[in-house]
Amino acid sequence: MSVHEKISHLTSRDILAAKGQRKLAVLTAYDYSSAMLVDEAGVDIILVGDSLGMVMLGREDTLSVTLEECIHHTKAVLRGTRRALVVADMPFMSYEAGVNEALHNAARLCQESGVRAVKVEGGSWILPQIEALVRAGIPVMGHLGLTPQRAAVLGGFKVQAKNAEAALQLIKDALALQEAGCFSLVLEAIPAPLARRVSERLAIPTIGIGAGNGCDGQVLVYHDLLGLYKDFTPRFVRRYAALGPIIRDAVAAYADDVRQGAFPTSEHAFSMSDEEIAKLDAVLADWETTR
Ligand code: KIV
Repeated sequence: MSVHEKISHLTSRDILAAKGQRKLAVLTAYDYSSAMLVDEAGVDIILVGDSLGMVMLGREDTLSVTLEECIHHTKAVLRGTRRALVVADMPFMSYEAGVNEALHNAARLCQESGVRAVKVEGGSWILPQIEALVRAGIPVMGHLGLTPQRAAVLGGFKVQAKNAEAALQLIKDALALQEAGCFSLVLEAIPAPLARRVSERLAIPTIGIGAGNGCDGQVLVYHDLLGLYKDFTPRFVRRYAALGPIIRDAVAAYADDVRQGAFPTSEHAFSMSDEEIAKLDAVLADWETTR
């Protein structure tokens, strides 16, 4: 694509305007080729989630994902995206320490990758950071419920806000995030009746994952949806394909063909004219007798 070709991505305002009009389909992607497929399939938002630490890099959790890694993957995703809004995760500890650090790191993420919206995990304790980012011109997606960056204090990857008190706190946090300027809010692993109540009370779209169908949209991890990640599949995932075995069988068939000499055949090879082959054999014979 030429640098002059105009790409018209959806914007955070388009996402806001979808509230109450249509459900939003959100999916993660972490590289050029998958982003292209996801974008062609017509999702509204492509999230470059820090889940990349697990599904792309084979780590145990998201905590070790760095800003540089988020920048690297986001750049690739943007190259493959024409229409969807791309949102990049701010990694663990890139915004928690305070407003200045959050601004500095979000600026790096936006300037170095080209992304135009970021996601942060957490509630009322990160409001100053969200307000500062929005004031600086960076659209922010919030994330409440099971926030994987805080899994250690949440007791692991567990459903959150199951009692009335915690549920009320989550509703208050959701309203505060909206007030701080978030344009949308991910609700992860919370009871469906709570997610519905949050969604009814917010003017910004909620994007559920393990939060039932009362949300304004849904998000899944690319590898979970396609059956590409075997280490752990949460109960809330629906697999739309089982590509893992298909890929493994294709690779095994290729390896078998190579070992049997069945690949490549002449249709995959480049030819040379008989005249040039004869010349080559003559110069080769000469060269080999003189060396
Ligand atoms: O990192 C991620 O992929 C996410 C989604 C699961 C919401 O945060």
